[in-house]
Amino acid sequence: MNKQDQLKHQVAKAAIDYVVPKLKPSDVLGIGTGSTANFFIDMLDGHQSKFKAAIASSEASAERLKAIGVEVLDMNDVQSLAFYVDGADESNKELHLIKGGGAALTREKIVASIAKQFVCIADESKWVDCLGAFPLPVEVIPMAREAVARQLEELGGDPRWREGVITDNGCDILDVHGLKISNAIKLESEINQIVGVVSNGLFARRKADVMLLGREDGVQIIYPGLGG
Ligand code: 5RP
Repeated sequence: MNKQDQLKHQVAKAAIDYVVPKLKPSDVLGIGTGSTANFFIDMLDGHQSKFKAAIASSEASAERLKAIGVEVLDMNDVQSLAFYVDGADESNKELHLIKGGGAALTREKIVASIAKQFVCIADESKWVDCLGAFPLPVEVIPMAREAVARQLEELGGDPRWREGVITDNGCDILDVHGLKISNAIKLESEINQIVGVVSNGLFARRKADVMLLGREDGVQIIYPGLGG
């Protein structure tokens, strides 16, 4: 395992220690997508009896959960989640995030929206002063892709089509390069207003509630505004 994967593994273990003791047997857990979330799913094996079921933010995570015997529910049948556990591509100290490197941003946003607590798990490479070095993913209705791209250029970005990738919702992804995001809440709202956009990878209006950040010297627990 390389160093980054070791840190992802370490934060996934920290998330198990953070979340599992707080779970009630009636709780439903929200689970994200990506390699860090995968470590977390794998470590849930053995704890299945401590919660009722899960909602997954992608087909891939749903399959991984089912493989260890966790029941995966339809979100329409669930009112709220005790926790949503997921990784990120970038975080600033407000715990505003960029997500969607794995193209699951819309479902991640939907699942996070009904969580009482969003626990973000990430290795230290994701921690930034200013969001935007990681290209911002934007999920678009396929017929609107070029029209949306022109609007994103007006906002100062350099959108590039993630060719060959179709989301679980049957949509396309534009990765917007060259943004230096000083007001994530405003930009998230502006991009959402572009006709043809399904959602964008800024998680600022619904940010993380706590970050477990894997560093060389251990896992740091960070709350919004107090970051490391
Ligand atoms: C998927 C995501 C992931 O959380 C993000 O890409 C981080 O992935 P990883 O844990 O593999 O570094 O937003 O859409």
